[in-house]
Amino acid sequence: MRIAFVGKGGSGKTTLSALLIRHLAATGAPVVAIDADINQHLGAALGLDEAVAARLPAMGEHLPLIKEYLRGTNPRIASAETMIKTTPPGEGSALLRVREDNPVYDACARPVELDGDPVRLMVTGPFTDADLGVACYHAKTGAVELYLNHLVDGRDEYVVVDMTAGSDSFASGLFTRFDITFLVAEPTRKGVSVYRQYKEYARDYGVTLKVVGNKVQGKDDLDFLRDEVGDDLLVTVGHSDWVRAMEKGRPPRFALLEDANRRALRLLHTAVDVTYGLRDAERYTRQMVHFHLKNAHAWGNERTGADLAAQVDPGFVLGGLGEEAAAAPA
Ligand SMILES: Nc1ncnc2c1ncn2[C@@H]1O[C@H](COP(=O)(O)OP(=O)(O)O)[C@@H](O)[C@H]1O
Ligand SMILES: [Mg+2]
Repeated sequence: MRIAFVGKGGSGKTTLSALLIRHLAATGAPVVAIDADINQHLGAALGLDEAVAARLPAMGEHLPLIKEYLRGTNPRIASAETMIKTTPPGEGSALLRVREDNPVYDACARPVELDGDPVRLMVTGPFTDADLGVACYHAKTGAVELYLNHLVDGRDEYVVVDMTAGSDSFASGLFTRFDITFLVAEPTRKGVSVYRQYKEYARDYGVTLKVVGNKVQGKDDLDFLRDEVGDDLLVTVGHSDWVRAMEKGRPPRFALLEDANRRALRLLHTAVDVTYGLRDAERYTRQMVHFHLKNAHAWGNERTGADLAAQVDPGFVLGGLGEEAAAAPA
């Protein structure tokens, strides 16, 4: 199950991503945590100290390795240099799984223990101006998009991406790569304006978008969010002393998180699991191709000097369950 957290800077994306990651890990489920936020703080929110977090390998710096592995023996992709962030898998491509070991995890993932439960953490690495452009060959979020487009994942295993709701994720197909997108909004006009913009982009792509109200204090805040986002409001979270203690570098055991916030996390977990029934491998693959052709036309063909439309394998469908997916080792 693929989960994105988006929202305005400071709304609580990283905090809520980290809490859901802890919750899922505590159930014993395998979890891959990905930091794709402009401000790279997920490692710290998962309890890593700054020096350790700063030494995490950056996915953005391993793009050549990622591309080389993923293209596998796919005859439609002549070289890693002609692979852009939207290049879809086809027959011969290497596919990825949540639980396995593979060269991508070897290079980019590090284990983090959360009260004894291990998760894998990957980080895009710090962003530069170039990463935020529409047409970037080196875009760090491109590594995340390639990962998700080659991932065969099933029930009860989770990928949680702490993400920026920027132009980059809309120009590429990244925002369509999730089973569910949690938009974190404070009860403010700015908070809900990001929601409206996201909803607008997502409308034509069948994106499942739910709002998580954060820093909600009392009835007035709740009424405001209800009025502004209606039925898309899934749950609200108040101020958490547990989170504040964590921010002070004194992380309490996760079992001590406030009851109301534990309930909120269970609700998020259920909302994620319910979306399994909405999966549609054909649509998922079609969208991947749609965004690839769009990027090829807009900048990719020119940038690589190749006709990138020829990379599309018309017979290929990225299987949601693993059985029917055409997996081939590199
Ligand atoms: N529910 C909460 N209770 C207490 N502090 C919170 C809560 N949500 C967020 N914060 C604090 O607000 C600040 C911004 O949150 P953060 O998750 O970093 O936002 P974002 O990732 O969206 O930029 C952090 O200092 C965080 O600890
Ligand atoms: Mg953040």
